[in-house]
Amino acid sequence: MTSETRRVALVTGAAGELGRAICARLLEDGLHLAALDIDLGAAQALVERLPKAPGQRAIALRADLGDAASIHLVVQQVGQSFGRIDVVVNNAAVNHRGSLYDFDPAQWDHMMAVNLRGPALLCQQVAPYWQRQASGRVINIVSRCWVAGGPPAYVACKAGLVGLTRSMARELAEHNVTVNAIAPGLLPSAFTLDGRDAESFERIAQGSIRDTPLQRLTTAEDVAGTTSFLASRDAAFITAEVIHVCGGSQLAPFGKR
Ligand SMILES: NC(=O)c1ccc[n+]([C@@H]2O[C@H](COP(=O)([O-])OP(=O)(O)OC[C@H]3O[C@@H](n4cnc5c(N)ncnc54)[C@H](O)[C@@H]3O)[C@@H](O)[C@H]2O)c1
Repeated sequence: MTSETRRVALVTGAAGELGRAICARLLEDGLHLAALDIDLGAAQALVERLPKAPGQRAIALRADLGDAASIHLVVQQVGQSFGRIDVVVNNAAVNHRGSLYDFDPAQWDHMMAVNLRGPALLCQQVAPYWQRQASGRVINIVSRCWVAGGPPAYVACKAGLVGLTRSMARELAEHNVTVNAIAPGLLPSAFTLDGRDAESFERIAQGSIRDTPLQRLTTAEDVAGTTSFLASRDAAFITAEVIHVCGGSQLAPFGKR
């Protein structure tokens, strides 16, 4: 594959558990990569470590998905670097835990800004590229909890991102852009381990496995593989879908953990 024929993938939250696997898989698939994260050092370490074919490029850029100016700037940087943007994976998210009885309004707003408004603004900035290229792919990482329920701010963001997926699928179709979502189940990451000791995570994990017909946790590679499929030619006529990558746990009620 020559450098010119390679598509360009932009992945947010690239340095996290799922982001690293998604970046690795899209590079394996032959795409150029723009790895975005609020933690620039971790994104740089990732792109240096990942294997690349001759002529294949991977760059790391800092972006704060909660900040409109930062999104605007980073899309300009990716555009200047590669001249095109084909695949956007909206994977970055923050989580402040809290129930309906005790959530903090400032934390609620921060989650909405990063997890929901961020993907919309990013796609707004990338849309002119899709318009010029007459093609594009958007893959939004949601969560099984959008259907199962759970902490209200997190579920509201993820259900909102499903709504945004469906809305953008309709609006961007005129530029031959497909927009789909992936809903993973639980896996250990900074995101899910934050503020929990190993024992309490293990209890939650066991509960999740009990709720999962296929009887295991999700892996980052499960999600990366589905991302690869949705970015591929085989998925060209699939849009506005949510693919649950959680072993059937979307069928189970969300138990108290
Ligand atoms: N881990 C799970 O069990 C699980 C389950 C379902 C869905 N998800 C979703 O998968 C996605 C990735 O989660 P993960 O488990 O890999 O988490 P993670 O914490 O390992 O990774 C999240 C990444 O996002 C980055 N990030 C945080 N705030 C940012 C911001 N403002 N701007 C840009 N980047 C920012 C972090 O630096 C980190 O690298 C999230 O959307 C999450 O909601 C995770």
